[in-house]
Amino acid sequence: MINTSKKVDGIHTLVNVITFFTLQKVKKALTSSCYSNQLVMPYVFTVGNDTGGATKTTCVIELGVALALKGKKVCLIGLDENSELSEYLGIDVDQLDTSSSMIFLEENPKDLARRLPKEKTGVEQLWIIPSAPDLIEVIRRKSREHQEKLLRNYIDNHLNEFDIVLIDTPAGLNMLKLNGVYAADFIIIPTRYDGKTTRAITRFTSHIEAVKGTEFNNYGILISAVDLRKKRNIEKTKTLLEEYSDKNLVFTTKIPTDADIEAAQSEHKTSHVFNIHSKAGKAYSQLAEEILCYF
Ligand SMILES: Nc1ncnc2c1ncn2[C@@H]1O[C@H](COP(=O)(O)OP(=O)(O)OP(=O)(O)O)[C@@H](O)[C@H]1O
Ligand SMILES: [Mg+2]
Repeated sequence: MINTSKKVDGIHTLVNVITFFTLQKVKKALTSSCYSNQLVMPYVFTVGNDTGGATKTTCVIELGVALALKGKKVCLIGLDENSELSEYLGIDVDQLDTSSSMIFLEENPKDLARRLPKEKTGVEQLWIIPSAPDLIEVIRRKSREHQEKLLRNYIDNHLNEFDIVLIDTPAGLNMLKLNGVYAADFIIIPTRYDGKTTRAITRFTSHIEAVKGTEFNNYGILISAVDLRKKRNIEKTKTLLEEYSDKNLVFTTKIPTDADIEAAQSEHKTSHVFNIHSKAGKAYSQLAEEILCYF
């Protein structure tokens, strides 16, 4: 006599085994090949840390160029009242008739993105909403509760023709930085290879947790301006970053120290225009590839 319940059990097991292997195959396909075309537009990367000089602004510019070189339409947004994003690209902030402060101060902000000139960036598809010192007005007038969604609303309403938005945030904690964090689909945290900036990561991730909730772990730490001669710092930083490395939260790409970066910025150019063979420029291109493979 045939035991039907055993037969049904057997079919279920077979179906489960097939489903398991199919899922594994799909998972493997997704992790082994780039599937950047599936990005929801625009995909928003916020670049931040809780300390000055971590190379945040440089990352926004150089990664922006690298992504544009890979065919993405990219918009940079400056949220730092020090205006270095504008300064590094040679934008005279005293002559600006529009800037990122309008996102926060105007009732119905218009389209603010302007195309960056190719002779400065080396690419066609790079746009900017520059920051200017008038961001101080935003902080004075808007630092009330529940003001952290203004930037994301603006991006959703005005920037959906872009593939990627890259946001530069200030070192200190204010409502502009919280807007940057709130708006992010993914947060890039550049850190130099030293104890000071890596300790700042702990503070910054606690800000991320406050704004995005404890479940959010869409962030990656970017080790930047690496000076391989400073062995003691490297050892110290490795220990400090251990808990993040164990959770796979550190980018494989590391940005080397490269004098061309500062030299390019002082001439208001990107490394791509200043020296196409720049070591850091190549590393940012590798970072763009790593990012496009993940998302
Ligand atoms: N890979 C690199 N190699 C050498 N110098 C670099 C590199 N990346 C950035 N720098 C230099 O480090 C300095 C700080 O960089 P950047 O302004 O990008 O940092 P930041 O985190 O935006 O600082 P802030 O908090 O003041 O806004 C700049 O002078 C820049 O030229
Ligand atoms: Mg900066």
